[in-house]
Amino acid sequence: MAIREILRMGHPLLKAVAKPVTQFNTPELQSLITDMRDTMVANFGAGLAAPQIGVGLRVVIFAIQHNPRYPKVEAIPETILINPEILLEEHTQIAGWEGCLSVPGLRGWVPRYQQIRYRAYNLQGDSIDRVVTDFHARVVQHEVDHLDGILYPQRITDMRQFGFEQALFPQQEGLSV
Ligand code: NI
Repeated sequence: MAIREILRMGHPLLKAVAKPVTQFNTPELQSLITDMRDTMVANFGAGLAAPQIGVGLRVVIFAIQHNPRYPKVEAIPETILINPEILLEEHTQIAGWEGCLSVPGLRGWVPRYQQIRYRAYNLQGDSIDRVVTDFHARVVQHEVDHLDGILYPQRITDMRQFGFEQALFPQQEGLSV
């Protein structure tokens, strides 16, 4: 296990399309997930995608603990998604604030689908198929974008709603995925 360096916006690996995982339940995949978890936790992140630590594979992790400072943000148990795919069944978008460990210190107001269905595999290769809404849906869209070489600033439609966290929200901290 290791805390890995997080690549920052501008690095070519963050702009690349990651490759699907073809073998499940291997020691290499287990060790990648352990490093991703350690790196996410050490940086107080809510989510992380493998390309953010320089690994071009379609693997993401996220976990949101209930925090009384953000009562509207639901808790999400630790989830590992391998080769995730988003299926849009509900086409309403809503905007919300996002941050990213690869874009430290900044926040942007990003439109995302309010409800999505996603399919993926877990470490063992069992399939996952879920319909999720709100913050869970937002996190999955943000993380799957990482696998396609897209960072959230590319999704901002009003660039006036993009700035430094301390200037936008002097009283509070936010979540970074
Ligand atoms: Ni991110």
